[in-house]
Amino acid sequence: MKRYPFTEQAITEAVKLLKAGGLVGFPTETVYGLGADATNERACETIYTVKGRSPLNPLIIHCVSLSQAETVGIFSPLAKTLARLFWPGPLTLIVPLRTPSICASIVVAGLDTVGIRIPSHGVALKLLEAYEKPLAAPSANRSGSLSPTAADHVQKYFKEVPGILLEGGHSSVGLESTIVDVTENPPQILRYGGLDVDRLLAAYPFIELLDPSPQSIKSPGQLLAHYAPRVPLRLNATDVRDSEGLLAFGTPLKGAKATFNLSLEKSLQEASSCLFQGLHWLEDQPGICGIAVQPIPDEGLGRAINDRLKRGARVLINESLGSGMEITDA
Ligand code: TXA
Ligand code: MG
Repeated sequence: MKRYPFTEQAITEAVKLLKAGGLVGFPTETVYGLGADATNERACETIYTVKGRSPLNPLIIHCVSLSQAETVGIFSPLAKTLARLFWPGPLTLIVPLRTPSICASIVVAGLDTVGIRIPSHGVALKLLEAYEKPLAAPSANRSGSLSPTAADHVQKYFKEVPGILLEGGHSSVGLESTIVDVTENPPQILRYGGLDVDRLLAAYPFIELLDPSPQSIKSPGQLLAHYAPRVPLRLNATDVRDSEGLLAFGTPLKGAKATFNLSLEKSLQEASSCLFQGLHWLEDQPGICGIAVQPIPDEGLGRAINDRLKRGARVLINESLGSGMEITDA
């Protein structure tokens, strides 16, 4: 992709390309997205092709306002309240798809529901405002691999792919959006993410937490292996083995070939904002055969961090499907 630092001219070029059915990589506060016109079937198919993504896995629709979101999905009073409380920001709401649908059919993957969010990153909002139509955008990584939180990460995967990549620094939240399914009563969390579940629960104590058992799967995406670095992850490490890199939390263990500390002060917010940055850096260190990860408390944003790490280490997949089975996508 061709990189553009953020300018008005870059937005104009990106809009021109989107209208012609092209792909635009753009920063959001969670992770970088790979965007296409959500109403253009061919453009959305290209996203699946270049990511190597299963067509069974629906995309998130990015909007600039609640009124635009209402042209895509149907918002109950509760959905509107959550949107007003947490948008723009790292929350995706699953709502009934409005029919007849303005979206390309591939982006909802045959479901009668749709995932929608308004991102808070200034460049994403400028792009959405200028385009005036919703954008379908998954994370800008190849399926199964680490999510991108910087333009350099996007180029690790898509340097040779035609398109424009808008630069916007490091994603400040650093984890994908929290997904809440408001078509269920009570609403259910489908993915832990950048919006701290404790904040959601403080506002709505009746929201149900994620149930990772296969019977409760709403979208095939929930079962897939994600977020895996090129070398194996070893979780809850209390020592460092030969040729391992270390993803530290708090005082680092000794003896690692290379160390990235998520947070010396053990701040979960700091750790989530640099989780993918640390994993990208470690997987690129020469001579490393694996990454040892120090324990991270499973509370607040720690739940989202541990979810990503477990999927990266294939632990969740093995727990859900029985070991030996693996489906890869993201
Ligand atoms: O923060 C984010 O959400 C980022 C940025 C770019 O906005 N996007 C992102 O997209 O993480 P992606 O495609 O990597 O993950 C989307 C997730 C998938 O797990 C998919 O299965 C789920 O959202 N999803 C989308 N539509 C759904 C639906 N109707 N029902 C259930 N899950 C849905
Ligand atoms: Mg993804």
